[in-house]
Amino acid sequence: MTEKRQQVKRIFDSISGSYDFLNHFLSAGIDYYWRYKALKMTGINKYSSVLDIASGTGDFAIAACKYKPENIFGADLSANMLKVFNSKAKWSIGKTVQMACEFLPFKNNSFTNVTVAFGVRNFYDLKTSFSNIYRIILPGGKFTILEFKLPENVFIRWVYLFYFQNILPLLGRMVSKNKEAYTYLPDSVKKFYEEINLPELLKTSGFKSIVCKSLTFGIVQVIIASK
Ligand SMILES: C[S@@+](CC[C@H](N)C(=O)[O-])C[C@H]1O[C@@H](n2cnc3c(N)ncnc32)[C@H](O)[C@@H]1O
Repeated sequence: MTEKRQQVKRIFDSISGSYDFLNHFLSAGIDYYWRYKALKMTGINKYSSVLDIASGTGDFAIAACKYKPENIFGADLSANMLKVFNSKAKWSIGKTVQMACEFLPFKNNSFTNVTVAFGVRNFYDLKTSFSNIYRIILPGGKFTILEFKLPENVFIRWVYLFYFQNILPLLGRMVSKNKEAYTYLPDSVKKFYEEINLPELLKTSGFKSIVCKSLTFGIVQVIIASK
């Protein structure tokens, strides 16, 4: 577990400078749409208090600010990702905090919404993370997950995996000069999809009314669970 924590922290600390460019370039900009859809489904408003975990360079939290929540926190394991986040965010309502989802120093029932975009597969202890998240969400509040998955259609899955396992690591390596990061990305997506049943895990963590929606041929999913 601590080995995964160290690996994930090392990877994101070292690619923070090229993360945004590669994210938008390798997804041909569709990642903006994925975040927009997930936030629209989440229904943040001026009464919301939001914690965006695994916020990285902040694209999800910054996009959430458009809905003018009462307050918003961005939390991440990697100090370097948060440094980029802070350089981008021109906000008065928010704060960033370096922390692991496995140790959330917030009181019970603190937030109406917790969001995690492309982060859950990196958590080194998913069960603890989900029960922490459940604890800090207000009754009636929502937990939104945006995460990669594998497409159901065999042909689309083949094309996707070919791109993900051959082209993406090559481009990622060339730009970021980091071999480990862009080998880790496709490996972690495949492993996570094959090993983890997110709706089931959410149920055992106490969540109910779990809604799942696939986007872009099933490459990505939005899951919204209520407390
Ligand atoms: C792929 S990035 C996603 C960033 C951002 N949410 C986005 O949509 O672009 C994953 C982030 O999760 C963070 N992370 C990984 N494990 C974590 C943990 N256990 N607790 C908090 N953050 C974690 C990493 O440091 C990294 O910044």
